[in-house]
Amino acid sequence: MTLAQMAVEVLSCAGGREKTRLSRAHAATWFAAREAGTPLEIGRAAPPDRPARPAKPELLDPREVPKRKPGSPEGRIALLHAVAHIELNAVDLHWDILARFSDVPMPMGFYDDWVKAADEESKHFTLMCDCLEEAGSFYGALPAHAGMWRAAEDTAHDLLGRLAVVPMVLEARGLDVTPGMIGIFRKAGAKSAVAALETIYAEEVGHVAFGSKWFHFLCGRHEKDPKVVFHDLVQTYFHGALKPPFNEEKRAEAGLPPDFYWPLANA
Ligand SMILES: [Fe+2]
Ligand SMILES: [Fe+2]
Repeated sequence: MTLAQMAVEVLSCAGGREKTRLSRAHAATWFAAREAGTPLEIGRAAPPDRPARPAKPELLDPREVPKRKPGSPEGRIALLHAVAHIELNAVDLHWDILARFSDVPMPMGFYDDWVKAADEESKHFTLMCDCLEEAGSFYGALPAHAGMWRAAEDTAHDLLGRLAVVPMVLEARGLDVTPGMIGIFRKAGAKSAVAALETIYAEEVGHVAFGSKWFHFLCGRHEKDPKVVFHDLVQTYFHGALKPPFNEEKRAEAGLPPDFYWPLANA
């Protein structure tokens, strides 16, 4: 199997637990082959326009998703559910970048990074599912945001645009909001949710860093100014301004300097 074929298999698998199990198995196969010095071929494969998804959760327009108080048990379940949904989408996003842009020649490290990110998102989804089940719920019990795939569709023909919007805007936003979420669960004494979110928080820094690394690499390949290109692409593909407050420390750790995101705040 080629890497692109493995990606299409994950994208075509509907069930959340099944998708993430397959994702982790394929990641293990990829890294075992790399370690053995016999890397898999990247190959070519056409990813589906939209990844397969389970029948539940029902997908609603973000404005129709009911808001719940974060201080209540129901609110905390809704929060875990929303994170689970984001993680499942992230699994598909990382496999999608591997399949969709398989025609762009990239160094081996590019594939290693996104396979690793997909593997970690799969773990994050599983952790969120376990927390939901511990709280008496499950992924699919509540409605979730439709339109999470929009960023992928908008940037389906533009690798630089994909890197700018997905890891460097959306995943970077995760770094801004996760500490507040951890605080909510810590206050509620929800130990396993705190531990899971701390794992997610630590590993997401890496995903943003992969985005910044390969964004800068591609800008260098085409002799473009990364900051100017970033501003152009975010304005083209991302709908709305970036929301402060920003987690400047973790963004810096991930290779995102302030002059990348501040000019796009409240623009
Ligand atoms: Fe994640
Ligand atoms: Fe991520």
